[in-house]
Amino acid sequence: MDSLMIKGGVPLEGEVQISGAKNAVLPLMAAALLTDEPCVIRRVPDLSDVRFMGQILASLGAEFRMEGDTVHIRAARLKGMADYDLIRKMRASICILGPLLGRLHQAKVSLPGGCVIGSRPVDLHLKGLAALGANITVKNGYVHAKAPKLVGSEVFLGGRVGPTVLGTANVMMAATLAEGVTVIESAACEPEVIDVANFLNGMGAKISGAGSPTVQILGVDKLHGVEHEVIPDRIEAATFAIAAAATGGEITILGARPDHMSAVLDKLGEANVKVERRGRNLTVKRGGRLKPVDITTLPYAGFPTDVQAQMMVLMTLTPGLSIITERVFESRFMHVSELARLGAEIAIEGPSAIVKGGRPLSGAPIMASDLRASAALVIAGLAASGTTVVNRVYHIDRGYERIDDKLRRLGARIERVKET
Ligand code: EPZ
Repeated sequence: MDSLMIKGGVPLEGEVQISGAKNAVLPLMAAALLTDEPCVIRRVPDLSDVRFMGQILASLGAEFRMEGDTVHIRAARLKGMADYDLIRKMRASICILGPLLGRLHQAKVSLPGGCVIGSRPVDLHLKGLAALGANITVKNGYVHAKAPKLVGSEVFLGGRVGPTVLGTANVMMAATLAEGVTVIESAACEPEVIDVANFLNGMGAKISGAGSPTVQILGVDKLHGVEHEVIPDRIEAATFAIAAAATGGEITILGARPDHMSAVLDKLGEANVKVERRGRNLTVKRGGRLKPVDITTLPYAGFPTDVQAQMMVLMTLTPGLSIITERVFESRFMHVSELARLGAEIAIEGPSAIVKGGRPLSGAPIMASDLRASAALVIAGLAASGTTVVNRVYHIDRGYERIDDKLRRLGARIERVKET
């Protein structure tokens, strides 16, 4: 397993280009299963999760090829049986369920296991698809779904902590080929859900209200191919903005969507980080002494849970007390013990982490655990004095396109150490 060796203490300087959004690309690739015509997706990041989803689509019988940042998919003939060893390894593969039901009226998909950040249930996905008339059974770790006919209906998709992003995408995708009108109440409002709706409408679907809590889908008989450019990754952009502030540098982020980042930009402003917007480019630097902030993660447009760990690192460098409360996932503080190894003082009280910031971090070997926690550990290494080695870098490669190359171009002393 590769590691990243970081010699910290260098303020990041320069420009970085943001890649397409991982959390949009994965459901978009699944949506291509809804037609037998070719689909083209541009600005696709080169991530292991993307390549993995490509393998899953291929195991279903679809043609998949990636040329640079463009993905070509043609699901002319679908076997309906995926390589279930593949499916169980990536949670996001649950989003092939809706398209397979819409296209084949049947599907067998491995129940995604939990992961380090939580149990990751899919009850809301199944509730929504059952509302469309699917007969769903769960047996031996697999979801078996059959729907001789999908019929539009009204379904409330809110769970105990709010909406479900991929659940909304799954039900929306199946509903495009259902008979009649489907209304999803308490739909997720994330920009990635809007991107999926735009992709589906480009295929001939009739979806309105995406991005709001009420989404309406008027079923159609057939969908056709589409060409689509993925929205930029708001989480990657937030990660680089925080890395600039954490290292006391000044960077310009190119090709972002600041309108997708309001909560993050608001909190960075509160922390005394200056963000200058020029269209889709953001110039980020400290505005002087950092200030502590209180954060609660919430569904969009609240502060994103995927930026919680990165913001915590910034707060370890900020004199004073910051409180970070995680309301979306039940255990998303795996990075806390690793940050403590670098000298951070963080106390966990239930869903909240109390950060006593201001002490300088010093480098040490640390262990990545999940995608965003790993990115946070890299930021910590960049800010710490001395050398930090982040192990199990495969976690990062799932969701960040060549993060070490991008950081090196910003002046970071970072190198990938291949496992011998
Ligand atoms: C998406 O996951 C993202 N992944 C996650 O990003 C992100 O953290 C999450 O949305 C929340 O924004 C992708 O898009 C591939 P949810 P998703 O269903 O859709 C509960 C990253 O680092 N829930 O919105 O799986 C669930 O347990 C990843 O890029 C149910 O109770 O998340 C959680 O507490 C991590 N029942 C909450 O809802 C369900 O049926 C939000 O989950 C589904 C979810």
